[in-house]
Amino acid sequence: MTDQMGITPRRVLQGSIALGGLTIAAPLAPALGAEEILKWGPGLTTPSTVAGPFYPLLSKPVDRDADLTVISGRKDRAKGPVVHVMGRVLNLKGDPVKGVQVEIWQANAAGRYDHPVDPNPAPLDPNFQGYGVVVTDAEGRYRFKTIKPGGYPLTQSSYRAPHIHFELTGRMDRHITQMWFPGELLNSQDQLFTVLSPRAQQKVTCKLEAPTGSMEPESQIALWDIVIPNG
Ligand SMILES: [Fe+2]
Repeated sequence: MTDQMGITPRRVLQGSIALGGLTIAAPLAPALGAEEILKWGPGLTTPSTVAGPFYPLLSKPVDRDADLTVISGRKDRAKGPVVHVMGRVLNLKGDPVKGVQVEIWQANAAGRYDHPVDPNPAPLDPNFQGYGVVVTDAEGRYRFKTIKPGGYPLTQSSYRAPHIHFELTGRMDRHITQMWFPGELLNSQDQLFTVLSPRAQQKVTCKLEAPTGSMEPESQIALWDIVIPNG
């Protein structure tokens, strides 16, 4: 069985990377082969989506490293299930792209953004960083440790499913997208998800794996490769 990127679970490799001060031995998804990308045909980058209103445009947190589960100077960690989000940034030729800035921002476990325009009455989590930024390594890899975001109401009758926003800034491309989680009940009510074709939905959905090595036993690995046009 292969995931949306043509990667079989058995092909997940053990490795160790250091990004944004976070160094943990972990499984790493191999890059897609060029032939795997080319057979998809043209225009098959990871689908772009809107940035939404909650990007921390005016004030990014002082702590913006790759571990969103703790804020420096605080002893407690963020509430919610830990997820190690990782993968590679690739171009349409299937080459890993190094030096791409990868930003993520997301709601906390209760579905609330630490942003002044978020109308959700759900509580803030003072220990959740909410935003992080790393740069891909020589093999195009990125990695964050975060918590699984909660879904949240968009209107009185519609919801956003759990998702993490991504913005990638390379030398040639700026790419804004979102990552969804597989099997979420709210996916079928999320209009940004349901508007996508089934194939596109696969491309924006991560693959969840069991934790390994020194990871928390209850945590999960979310594997997600991102394809941008050039890099
Ligand atoms: Fe969002």
